[in-house]
Amino acid sequence: MKDTQIKKLITAEGKRQKSVINLIASENYVSKDVLAALGSVLTNKYAEGYPGRRYYGGNEIIDKVETLAIDRALKLFKLKPDAWHVNVQLLSGSPANFALYSALVPIGGKIMGMKLTSGGHLTHGHPLSMTGKLWKPIQFELDPKTEVIDYDAIEKLAIQEKPDIIVAGFTAYPRVVDFKKFRSIADKCGALLHIDMSHFAGLVAGGVYPSPFPYADSVMTTTHKSLRGPRQAILFVKKDERGFDKKLDKMVIPGLFGGPHENNIAGVAIALKEADTPAFKKYAKQVIKNAQTLAKELQRLGWKIVSGGTDSHLILMDTFSSNGVTGSDASKKLEKAGIIVNMNTVPGDTRSVMDPSGIRLGTCAETTIGKKEKDMIKIAQKMDKVLRGK
Ligand SMILES: Cc1ncc(COP(=O)(O)O)c(C=O)c1O
Repeated sequence: MKDTQIKKLITAEGKRQKSVINLIASENYVSKDVLAALGSVLTNKYAEGYPGRRYYGGNEIIDKVETLAIDRALKLFKLKPDAWHVNVQLLSGSPANFALYSALVPIGGKIMGMKLTSGGHLTHGHPLSMTGKLWKPIQFELDPKTEVIDYDAIEKLAIQEKPDIIVAGFTAYPRVVDFKKFRSIADKCGALLHIDMSHFAGLVAGGVYPSPFPYADSVMTTTHKSLRGPRQAILFVKKDERGFDKKLDKMVIPGLFGGPHENNIAGVAIALKEADTPAFKKYAKQVIKNAQTLAKELQRLGWKIVSGGTDSHLILMDTFSSNGVTGSDASKKLEKAGIIVNMNTVPGDTRSVMDPSGIRLGTCAETTIGKKEKDMIKIAQKMDKVLRGK
């Protein structure tokens, strides 16, 4: 690389990534092949439109790349091409959710999703997100006692509010979600059911977390978390007489975007193939084993784990009620000791999002570099020492 300033920074970031324990639940380390696709000549090509229907010439190879990504997405999640439509042009998770609502929910309609402080994402109708401004947000929370989803309370609220769409799927919820129950609630109030599987898509692919597809009208996933691909997102919509496939494609272009990032799409195609292997299944299993071991050891050391444990890659640790350490202090102290986490609200948090009561941990990245249960026990013990100032 000729640009020595940027080269130095890339090298330094590579070193940083190698030198830390990375417990950011939404991060992972992509393969060399994915990196190669991202830095390939595919970035030079404009390809507005879809395979076989491009606005620019010279897309015969690009069409093959995008079609491969679509086919591999269907195959990985065991979907029939005549039942599901896939759009792989979404630049990331937030614009993907925005595109989905824009396509399927009239402006001013109601979006029902989980509150940020309970583990929902900003794009599930938070008032500061455009998804909470252009549409009317109906927000639900967790059961304050059990810290898990209260399906009866959601059903009551849904029947009362009659949302146009219910969003299930979370950014900081460690448990398995009962998609069948969400389907039944959506049917009772006449809403669409959108599943945001950004966090757990890799676990679904690996067969260690239930698939939302049998119950959803639409599914979104980012590709850079447990799925271990580049930064991008995929939208799946049911293919039927409602015409969601055409509505979505039209909303993506010309509705919201221009040329797709085909180098990223190639990276996604590679990651989808990598996830469709026995090795990835083993990886996904280990991710959960590692998270459960980490959570158990932290509990043994006296730390409160939200909901009492985890069924996934993700753990919410209530550092404030355990030991008076705020989420912001905890994350700074841990970073100084080489452990990277993010501060996070816990259910019912009365502290601010900028200095909440807890931290979020995840095991996707560390499992990718080969960490096992015994390493998780050591990490928990190091965290305990750092947080207690021992
Ligand atoms: C559940 C969920 N949806 C959407 C997003 C948004 O993804 P992005 O950061 O790629 O916009 C995230 C990211 O954290 C997420 O966790």
